[in-house]
Amino acid sequence: MKPIALTGIKPTGKPHIGNYLGMYRPALDLMENYQGMYFVADLHALTTMHDAATLKDLVYEVAASWLALGLDPDEAIFFRQSDIPEIPEFTWIMSCFTSKGLLNRAHAYKDAVDKNLELNRDPDEGINAGLFYYPVLMAADILLYGSDVVPVGLDQKQHIEITRDIAEAFNRTYGDVLKVPEGLIQESVMKVPGIDGRKMSKSYDNTIPIFAPEKKLRKQVMRIVTDSKRPEDPKDPDDDNLFALLRFFASPERLEEIRELYVGGGAAYGELKKELASLILEHFADARVKFDNLIQNKDYLDKVLLEGAQKARAMGKPYLQAARKATGLD
Ligand code: ADP
Ligand code: TRP
Repeated sequence: MKPIALTGIKPTGKPHIGNYLGMYRPALDLMENYQGMYFVADLHALTTMHDAATLKDLVYEVAASWLALGLDPDEAIFFRQSDIPEIPEFTWIMSCFTSKGLLNRAHAYKDAVDKNLELNRDPDEGINAGLFYYPVLMAADILLYGSDVVPVGLDQKQHIEITRDIAEAFNRTYGDVLKVPEGLIQESVMKVPGIDGRKMSKSYDNTIPIFAPEKKLRKQVMRIVTDSKRPEDPKDPDDDNLFALLRFFASPERLEEIRELYVGGGAAYGELKKELASLILEHFADARVKFDNLIQNKDYLDKVLLEGAQKARAMGKPYLQAARKATGLD
């Protein structure tokens, strides 16, 4: 069997081109050499998303996105995290090999604490224990199936390091039970900028959603923040988020032309934004049609996810059993 590439995406917002370039596409490309295991991380989403109907809708949106973007459920093992009852048990076992200090230093938790301290609040105010435990749950996701590589964006690097730490701590105690995974960080697309120049992220409300209606998608592209230079003014393409986004979608020849327009004068932001919107719509034309069909067909999505969960559980059971045996629980 091929080595396993595993990754998850939280259903906390509509999939955007940062997710696509940083995660979906590299993950799907890996299928050539790896057994892909891709899942909708709804248990992770629950740390922040407390509206039941929205969570349910977003699980379907993310599932439909994977399939629309080319995931073949006969090839990849594709499932919903909460359909794997082994996960909570494995998470608990992993937590007993996780140093609490490591979790104190995890970025998401530390940022939340720092924010409270800035506001002179109790350090843990408003922070649920699920957020604190987030990295352990993610380690369980990865370690349960003996994953070899984990394709993610740069922001997840620390979580992979924590996962490796947990696996090594477990193995130091009991011998070689768990596979220590490698992160696969996409260097070239480490950080896709959002329309405001910060990292494109659902949490910043600065995304270009892949499957939004055309009008909405175009409108969002037109909102890309640029400086106030006139078309004829020379501009620095390497210090401009419109150009940074064009890089991902324009052909190399066209990109070179645009670069020359920036440097020599003649690049009109409004026109280039229209061009970018058209390039994005063209790039995702087939996927957008597929998505619209899939999202109407929830029974099909449920069926695909459940079948995937059966396969994932079969992959996970030997590792859970080995961990139970090693620890003396079995
Ligand atoms: P968001 O930041 O929008 O909440 P997630 O945290 O759910 O996105 O990320 C899902 C996956 O997409 C992760 O592997 C993450 O590293 C990747 N990703 C998210 N935003 C970007 C981005 N702007 N550039 C590159 N990869 C990204
Ligand atoms: N934490 C990841 C994110 O925010 C999602 C995730 C959950 C994940 N479990 C995972 C990614 C396991 C890779 C492997 O994007």
